[in-house]
Amino acid sequence: MPDSHAAVPVVAIDGPAASGKGTIARQVAAALGYHYLDSGSLYRLVAHQALATGTDPGDGEALAALARAMVVRFDGDAIRLDGADVTEALRAEAVSAAASRVAVHPAVRSALLERQRGFRRLPGLVADGRDMGTVVFPDAAPKVFVTASAEERARRRRRQLAETGIDVNIQSLLRDIRERDERDASRSAAPLRPAVDAVILDTTNMAVEAAVAAVLALIAPARR
Ligand code: DC
Repeated sequence: MPDSHAAVPVVAIDGPAASGKGTIARQVAAALGYHYLDSGSLYRLVAHQALATGTDPGDGEALAALARAMVVRFDGDAIRLDGADVTEALRAEAVSAAASRVAVHPAVRSALLERQRGFRRLPGLVADGRDMGTVVFPDAAPKVFVTASAEERARRRRRQLAETGIDVNIQSLLRDIRERDERDASRSAAPLRPAVDAVILDTTNMAVEAAVAAVLALIAPARR
C-alpha cells in the first residue's frame, strides 16, 4: 500500500501569518512522532527563486516553472534549495511579502500540490499552512484553524525578529500583517479560510503549551 494512501493520518493546522501555527504544529508533530510539513516554506522558496532570478511576480506560468524545478531538502529545521542552506533567507520580510504574491497564482498552487501530498507518510503528518484542510488534505482529521488578533500577531513577529537582532517598527509590522491577511483571504485560488469542519483556536491570550494541549485533545486517544 503506498504511503500516500488515505490511511496515513493527517492533522491540518491552518491560519494567518504569525498566528503561532508553525510553533504549535511542530510541537504537535513532535508529540505524536509524526512528520511535519511547513507548506508556507514552499511558497517562500518560490518567492526566493523569483527574487533571485528577477521573475515577474505577475507571471504565474513562469513562477510555476520555478516551483517545479526547485530541488528542495528539508533537513530537520534547515531548508536546502539546490544544495544551499536558505533557512534564514526565507524568513526575510521581502520574501514573506513576495510569497503571499506568488501564492495567488493557481498555476503555482497546482505546481506545489503533489509535492505537498508527498509528505504524507507513515506514521502520520502534521501539515501547517493556509489550505491544508480545505484543498491539500481535505480528509485531514482533525482540522484546526489557529488565529490571534492582528495586534498580537504583530507583537509576536516583532519579538521573533528581535531575537535575530532585527528591530522593526510595530506599526509597519501591523500594516504588513493586515495587507498579507487581506491578500491571502481575498485571492480566488484557495483563499485563507477555515474548513467547514475546522475547529477554531484563538491563541490571542493562550500560551503555546495550552494551544498544543488543545490540539492534542482533538486527536483520538489511540493516536496520541
Ligand atoms: O506560513 P507562511 O507565512 O510561511 O506563508 C508564506 C505565504 O505563503 C503566505 O503569505 C501565504 C502563502 N501560503 C499559502 O498560500 N498557502 C499555504 N498553504 C501556505 C502559505
